[in-house]
This record gives sequence, C-alpha cells and structure tokens, in this order.
Amino acid sequence: MSFKITEKVTWVGKIDWELRRFHGDEYSTHRGTSYNSYLIRDKKNVLIDTVWKPFDEEFVDNLKKEIDLNEIDYIIANHGEIDHSGSLPLLMKEIPEVPIYCTAAGAKILKAHYHEDWNFVKVKTGDTLDIGENKLTFIEAKMLHWPDSMFTYMGGENILFSNDAFGQHYASDLMYNDLVDQAELYQEAMKYYANILTPFSPLVIKKIEEVLSSNVPVNMIATSHGVIWRDNPTQIVEKYLEWAKEYQENQITIVYDSMWNATRRMAEAIEEGIKIEDKNVVVKLFNAAHADKNDIITEIFKSKAILIGASTVNNSILSSISGILDMIKGLGFKNKKAAAFGSYGWSGESVKIITERLKDAKLEVINDGIKELWNPDEEGLKRCREFGVNSAKNL
Ligand code: FEO
Repeated sequence: MSFKITEKVTWVGKIDWELRRFHGDEYSTHRGTSYNSYLIRDKKNVLIDTVWKPFDEEFVDNLKKEIDLNEIDYIIANHGEIDHSGSLPLLMKEIPEVPIYCTAAGAKILKAHYHEDWNFVKVKTGDTLDIGENKLTFIEAKMLHWPDSMFTYMGGENILFSNDAFGQHYASDLMYNDLVDQAELYQEAMKYYANILTPFSPLVIKKIEEVLSSNVPVNMIATSHGVIWRDNPTQIVEKYLEWAKEYQENQITIVYDSMWNATRRMAEAIEEGIKIEDKNVVVKLFNAAHADKNDIITEIFKSKAILIGASTVNNSILSSISGILDMIKGLGFKNKKAAAFGSYGWSGESVKIITERLKDAKLEVINDGIKELWNPDEEGLKRCREFGVNSAKNL
C-alpha cells in the first residue's frame, strides 16, 4: 500500500494492525500503530525514514513498485529507533552508497545498532538540502524523545516531517486527522504524550516556541506514527504546549491493588468521601493488577491528584503498585498532589512505603495516608470516607 499525500510526496510506510505491545512490554497499543515512511520526488528523490524490521521485505518490495531504488538520491533518518530504521539494513544492501542524512547522535546510534559503515551525512539545525523545487531544512529535536531525534521541514510544500513528535499509536486506513474519530485520535495522542514525552516537557516547550518563532507556514505535519495532521495541523502543536505545561484536569485518580478486597473497599469508601466534598470532580478507580498500566498513566497525566493504595505484603507493597510508582517517578510528573492508603494484617508498612516513594517521585504528599487493619468494618469505612473528604479539601 502507498498513497500520495501531495503531488510530490508519497506515503510508503506500513500499517501494523496487529501490534498490541511496543517497547517490549512498556507500551500497550490497543489500536495497533503505523510506521510512516515518505518518498519525496523532486529533481532529487528522498526517502524519509523506513519501517520496523519485521516488515522490511514488504517495505522494500513496496518501495520498488514506487521507484527504481537506484533513483533514490538521499535517505533521511530522522530518528534511529528500530521502528523507523529497522528496514535500513535490507534497503542499504541494494543501494549501499546512498547518503543517509541524520544528526551526529543518529549516526552513532545507527552504527551501534547495525554495525554498518554507511555513508552518513551529519546535519545540524538550520542545515538545508536543495532537492529541486523544494528545499529541506533540518531541525534537531534532541531528547524528543531520543538524543538523535530530528524534524525535517519541506519548504515549498510546507510539510513538517516530525517523526515521533505529534504521533499516535493508531492504525487507521483513513490516515488523516480530519477523517478519523476525534475522541480516538486524541486519546491515542494524549496517551503517547503522557507515556513517552512527559519527562521531556520543558524541551517540548522550548522546541515548539523555537519552531513557532520562525513563522514558517505548516500545511501538514507528517508524523512517523498514526495519522497525518492536515486539517488545522497546528492544533496538535497547541495541544502539546498545553500538555507540556504541567497539564491537569479536574480529576483525581485512585490506583490500588488488593489481596482480599480490603484495600479495594477502602478505595471505594475514599472515593465516596471525595464526592461528598466535591460533586464536580471526576474520580476514577483502577486496580493496577487488572488495568492497563499505560492507560493508568494517561489518567494520572490528566489528574490534579492521585491516591495510591496497596495492602502490605512481606513488609512491602504489592508488585503492581510498585511498578506504577516506578513509572510515575520515571516520567517525572509535576504539580500533582498525592496520598497513600492500604490495609494490613500485622506489620503494616505499605502506607509509609508508598508515601516515601511518592515523595521520592517529587509529588506533593498532602497527608500521612490511612491504613486499616484487616478488612475494614463500618467504622473503618467511615474513617476512609472521612479521609476522602479531608483529602478533597486539600486538592
Ligand atoms: Fe517511533 Fe522513538 O520511535
């Protein structure tokens, strides 16, 4: 499959309808994904990025239907991660001399992955490549989200090839932002930002302001995953600015795990208490052992506060909650309040451990948390409701 996105630019990527786990097991892809590669035909012919290795033969065969490979003058590798560079080894066997334009970090990464001495041309922000009627300008986007990440801007057609930025893991045959279900599109775009780009938010703001200040027209943002933004393409840029600035909605997310439902009953009583105090706030509950961890992270991203609960086991906390706390720390959420809760039988360390880990993740812990012995009775549930009321007062 391929299709023209403009007279000069053809999409030559791969829609991966099957993918459900990405980055090992670190990212769930409920709606599959796509690896977008683009072929520019001008006086010179340029290939931007490739697709993930399992599809390398299909990719190269498909590309051959579009163009004689010997007519490709330049390859641009906006990013060295395997989902975009994985077909390079097979392609380069056929056209080994074609120069690969990438950042200095990109050349290092590609060499370290494939151990090939390809003809790398290292570029920096502002470097250009004349290809005929159009000119390509390179924009380094360091740590968005790897050290080598780069955008390529095609002047004339005014297309920003943004690679991962503004992308979504979203398989769709419709391929354009104006054609797909908007709720699905924004759910996937936000999940992508929350789970991948959150740690780099200050850099997102800086890079977007740098690009906007150059006042270049953008008719299209051609990402490397999901749909192409062509209808009001900068809407996603504005969203990124909003998301990068310590985003939150009027939401509290309660995440817990429970061995015999005592901590679950605590979570539900706390939720009742929050709603007694504030009827308008959205409260969502997730059992971390059952819910998808990336969906939980997306809900945490939207929240002004999170309450984390686990029963005590082996003087520690349940492993699903430990995993979520690791992710919260790694993503470096800012401007979120937090508290802990949990049931216990004898030693009862869970609340203290969760509280310490929330502090370590730089969340603002609003109280000492609440713990209940074994299965809470009506008095215990009342204490949990009061904890919910008091917590809501501080949020
Ligand atoms: Fe889609 Fe960072 O690779």
